[in-house]
Amino acid sequence: MGPKKWMKKVQGETRMAEFFKKFKELDIFGVKHNTNKSSRWRKPDGAMEDKMTLLDRYEFFLREKRTKVPFTLLELGAGPDHNIGASMRCWKEYFKDTSNLHVADINTNVAKLQAEGFKTHVGDLGDVGFLQQLAAMPWDFVLDDASHLWHHQIIGFRRLFPAVKPGGIYILEDLCTSFGHFRPVYNMSLDQKDTVFYLLAMTRVVASTNLTDNENIRSVYNLTDTDIALGRTIDMMAWIGNACIIVKK
Ligand SMILES: C[S@@+](CC[C@H](N)C(=O)[O-])C[C@H]1O[C@@H](n2cnc3c(N)ncnc32)[C@H](O)[C@@H]1O
Repeated sequence: MGPKKWMKKVQGETRMAEFFKKFKELDIFGVKHNTNKSSRWRKPDGAMEDKMTLLDRYEFFLREKRTKVPFTLLELGAGPDHNIGASMRCWKEYFKDTSNLHVADINTNVAKLQAEGFKTHVGDLGDVGFLQQLAAMPWDFVLDDASHLWHHQIIGFRRLFPAVKPGGIYILEDLCTSFGHFRPVYNMSLDQKDTVFYLLAMTRVVASTNLTDNENIRSVYNLTDTDIALGRTIDMMAWIGNACIIVKK
């Protein structure tokens, strides 16, 4: 069975999919605005693709923030020029307070989204100085859907998770790049730890109940003291397809 058929089977037949079916509003907006997080989108070649949506799972976590005022959102990655702002429009339609919807991208065209009321930031998400600027604001929701490079995903989390408010949500998408089978750009040298490896270490910090466990986790996974302290601020982690949803304590 090919990956597409497998995804359809998973979406259509598992109990998880049944459970999440009731959270469909965000996906409706996702399809409308053509983000590839949704169940159906038009690909760059013009063909329609049906796929497993991430938005029903996101809605499960985000729905109680829907009426939160003020509500601050930061998405890393606005999308390519032919589809720029797709997911931002989806958030705008879903959340009530849309005055603080921010998006960061290396592409200067992101600034055009200001005309639709979005706050835009131009910069390289591999640049710690840029990440620090973004971390100056407290966030209810941060979504990393930018380069999908391991070191960007990891330093983004290290710098921005501390800026997430208590009870806030951080999502990393496209963790499939951790397995190196997409493009050579995602195949790092062997001494680099991929993002799933890093998040598994964080999962161990979250799951451990006693502080001496930290020593083992630190040495096996090469975590720093700062990583351990960061892990201790995580309330829960949920792995969903190729995304990880992280809730702050
Ligand atoms: C997958 S697209 C984002 C799609 C969008 N979030 C959506 O769902 O509609 C990835 C974006 O990341 C941006 N990007 C790639 N490398 C980056 C970097 N180093 N810093 C900032 N943005 C980057 C690209 O310009 C592109 O717009």
